[in-house]
Amino acid sequence: MAKTLIIYYSSTGYNDRIAKQLAAKTDADLFRIEPVEEYDHDMWAAWDIAKKEREEGQLPALKSGYPDTSQYQQILLGGPSWGYTLANPLQSFLTKADFAGKPVYPWVTFYDHDEKYAEDLRAQLHNGQVQDLLELPMSVLDNQPRLDQTLTDWLTQMN
Ligand SMILES: Cc1cc2nc3c(=O)[nH]c(=O)nc-3n(C[C@H](O)[C@H](O)[C@H](O)COP(=O)(O)O)c2cc1C
Repeated sequence: MAKTLIIYYSSTGYNDRIAKQLAAKTDADLFRIEPVEEYDHDMWAAWDIAKKEREEGQLPALKSGYPDTSQYQQILLGGPSWGYTLANPLQSFLTKADFAGKPVYPWVTFYDHDEKYAEDLRAQLHNGQVQDLLELPMSVLDNQPRLDQTLTDWLTQMN
């Protein structure tokens, strides 16, 4: 498989587990996006903050910086859906990240629906070839054999 970097954000651990499973299957490197201030693990408390940030146009500062993507041939990019679109730390990351024209394979985790996630991602991501979005609802996340198979099938479609 092409040399791969996995970039992800995870607040409550689902995307962290997915990123690590993907890394184990591909021998890829991991880069975790981390805000300076972590969000509350209670979804509604986190949403109060995230919604206010959006209303005020203040995306969170990040302490994780930006990875050097030059040595990679492709990027996997994942995170949770927040308020039907990209989580605030991922939005913040994308304001400055440059994907150097490389293929970017995105995934998203969510409960019910993700609305216009793919469209928003394409609008916010600079200089990358965004591929089809892998949608991972909770029904898949909470079923480890199914998740495992879904991730394997997804990776098989890549180089
Ligand atoms: C601030 C916030 C907003 C959320 N908004 C949505 C939403 O609009 N739709 C949805 O299906 N899930 C929503 N969720 C649930 C998350 O998508 C779900 O918990 C997440 O995919 C888990 O990823 P993580 O454990 O890697 O953080 C929200 C969660 C948080 C914390």
